[in-house]
Amino acid sequence: MTSYQRLFLENKAWAKEKLTDDPDYFNRLADLQSPEFLWIGCSDSRVPANEITGTQPGEIFVHRNIANMVVHTDLNLLSVLQYAVEVLKVKHVIVCGHYGCGGVKAAMTNHNMGIINKWLRNIKDVHRFHREEIDSISNENLKINRMIELNVQEQVMNLAKTSIIQKAWKHTQLPHLHGWVYDIKDGITKPIFEMEAGTSIDSIYEFDDL
Ligand code: CO
Repeated sequence: MTSYQRLFLENKAWAKEKLTDDPDYFNRLADLQSPEFLWIGCSDSRVPANEITGTQPGEIFVHRNIANMVVHTDLNLLSVLQYAVEVLKVKHVIVCGHYGCGGVKAAMTNHNMGIINKWLRNIKDVHRFHREEIDSISNENLKINRMIELNVQEQVMNLAKTSIIQKAWKHTQLPHLHGWVYDIKDGITKPIFEMEAGTSIDSIYEFDDL
């Protein structure tokens, strides 16, 4: 059996188990989704949104990319964000980074990685904004860990800079924004930065006429 065939077998077993527990499970989910959360996480295979939060299908709307970035020209992220906020009306948007993030590590080197350079450059900008603090940390691991935390913080702030979030804040006082970091070594997630709906931001990023 090839490795991918195992996935089909596991899928069948999973579907059967769900039906055994609750014969109406798929019928109910097929009708609609009304998740309360949008998760913006890293693509890293070790950080599966549902599994680490103990949530079921239907509970979290998910977007993942390398190093959980909120890039204001990323049509994919922006489409997910708009749909989650305006149609699903999620109450919370969570940006979840993780210690040991290969994307952040790579951004802190000078390696030429081709196309990925363009993505990692957004993380290098985070380093530049916080150069003084980052450069003052001598231990290499602690330096990367702090960069991972600051990157999450910056991505939460990037959410607040979008017209999508600003418009929602003005009209619905939702969603609240959260920055978390997950530790691959012990499975624990901790909050590191929050922006309640309506938090004021640097005025240069504020839009009028929302
Ligand atoms: Co990562």
